[in-house]
Amino acid sequence: MRRFKTRIVTLLFVCSIITVSMLFYFMLIFDDKKLANNLINTSRSVIVVGFAELRKENLTLCETYEKKAKLKLIQMFEDGMSAVGHDNNGDDDENVNENYLENFVESLKSDSQPERKDSSSSTAVKLKDKELKKIWSTAKKWVRARQIIPEKAPELSSIIEALQHSKIIKSDVSRKGTQLKLLLTLEGGQQALFKPRRYPRDYITDDIYAGADRHNGEIVAFHLSRILNQRYAPIVASRIINVAQEIKPVASPSLLVTFVPQKTKTNQTLECFYGECYYCNEYELLCPDESTGTLEGSIILMLPNQYQLQKLRHPWQRTYKKNLKAQWEMDSHYCLSVLKSNSLRPRVLDFVDTAIFDYLIGNADRHHYEVFKHVSNSALLLIDNGKSFGDPAHDETTIIFPLLQCCVIRNQTYQHLRRFAFTTSSQFNLSAIIRQLLSNDQLWPLLTDRHLQALDRRLRMIMASIELCFDTYQKNYVLKN
Ligand SMILES: *[C@@H]1O[C@H](CO)[C@@H](O)[C@H](O)[C@H]1NC(C)=O
Ligand SMILES: *[C@@H]1O[C@H](CO)[C@@H](O)[C@H](O)[C@H]1NC(C)=O
Ligand SMILES: *[C@@H]1O[C@H](CO)[C@@H](O)[C@H](O)[C@H]1NC(C)=O
Ligand SMILES: *[C@@H]1O[C@H](CO)[C@@H](O)[C@H](O)[C@H]1NC(C)=O
Ligand SMILES: *[C@@H]1O[C@H](CO)[C@@H](O)[C@H](O)[C@H]1NC(C)=O
Repeated sequence: MRRFKTRIVTLLFVCSIITVSMLFYFMLIFDDKKLANNLINTSRSVIVVGFAELRKENLTLCETYEKKAKLKLIQMFEDGMSAVGHDNNGDDDENVNENYLENFVESLKSDSQPERKDSSSSTAVKLKDKELKKIWSTAKKWVRARQIIPEKAPELSSIIEALQHSKIIKSDVSRKGTQLKLLLTLEGGQQALFKPRRYPRDYITDDIYAGADRHNGEIVAFHLSRILNQRYAPIVASRIINVAQEIKPVASPSLLVTFVPQKTKTNQTLECFYGECYYCNEYELLCPDESTGTLEGSIILMLPNQYQLQKLRHPWQRTYKKNLKAQWEMDSHYCLSVLKSNSLRPRVLDFVDTAIFDYLIGNADRHHYEVFKHVSNSALLLIDNGKSFGDPAHDETTIIFPLLQCCVIRNQTYQHLRRFAFTTSSQFNLSAIIRQLLSNDQLWPLLTDRHLQALDRRLRMIMASIELCFDTYQKNYVLKN
């Protein structure tokens, strides 16, 4: 009798689990279907408007969007930015917003900056293996489907400090990707990638996606991901490495064979190397600074091994050919085809969030996106943000096509962006916050003033794009929960 009872209870339990999961599943499907139907219904008007303008002025789709967004921006300014920013909700009292921003920025600052004012290198170098192991394991434990670092991360400053100063116990080539990187093992057993500086801060390449990664862009992008509450970027810090003392003595055989020492004018030996990668060759040596023997770069904490990554083709991928446009560049319907795909539809809001991040940093090179493999509801991880902060005078509108074409955005994202975009205090615009977070960094200035100004300008363009969506669709349709 007792066994029978146990069986019944188990059976009931299993049944209820199945019912709940099915309910949940259907809720998701229905929600997605509604999204798709809504869009199919309402997007007709957009197409008509878009094509009429195209015919009249022979503008490309991108030029059309750009023109509309710029007109919208002027109109928003005429109305007064703050009027637009404070139109609807009860919590929009300016003081409330300023207080919110002040607390938010203070919390970001206290998490990422060490409390001590003394030269931090001496303290971190003294960190013992055991303490470092604890620091690295904290970072490992943070990782979830939709976070790489948590909202409150008081240990972040010690992780950054450890990345900047802990002893390198092994250096190796990294064969991932096309550019020269080093795979370092730090004391405590943590692996990290080192991307060396290739350009001065104000160097501009010929094309939006051309050229090498920028270590400074990678560092700023990490902090920006926290500001935007898109905490899906691996932890990045600045690092200055002495090649002769810290890399060569612990180099793996495959790295060591790529060393080609050079003589300087003053007859000193410079430890130059070329590593191993698609673009690496012995004619393109990476040499340390002549006077200091050091390289500056960004150091990126590797994600925990148990999280495998899955790389998928981005639906808004470029053709990378000058005279060949991708379908999405010509077709204002394009989002419909994304919404019709069962695998892509649930990620539309993530594509929009990522597009906003990439537009701000000027990254036009996210041809693939990465998620955690076998982890349901994984965020789109913001990995590899080095193709950023190139030309401060150029805002690449095609990067926010997911927003312009789908006209949906998480309400949470929208509410968050508004706070920075419509703040009346210059203390809390994006450029000012970046300055507050990073002006103590050993490699500051990480961005030129023009790059910082570009951040504020691009945020306003994003807000204008969202307003355009509000004009065409109902606000309730555009803002998703
Ligand atoms: C689409 O629009 C039609 C007519 O405007 C309306 O009757 C219908 O309910 C809409 N469908 C959806 C899914 O919103
Ligand atoms: C648009 O293109 C057509 C055909 O190429 C041309 O005849 C027309 O003058 C162009 N219109 C404008 C405004 O440039
Ligand atoms: C540089 O060093 C080499 C030996 O290491 C020596 O033969 C040579 O004279 C030196 N040149 C100068 C300019 O000091
Ligand atoms: C942002 O703030 C800085 C000062 O912190 C100010 O110089 C700049 O003009 C502000 N930018 C905008 C767009 O308000
Ligand atoms: C968006 O969020 C704000 C603030 O939380 C709320 O007042 C508003 O009703 C939300 N809008 C929608 C469409 O969910």
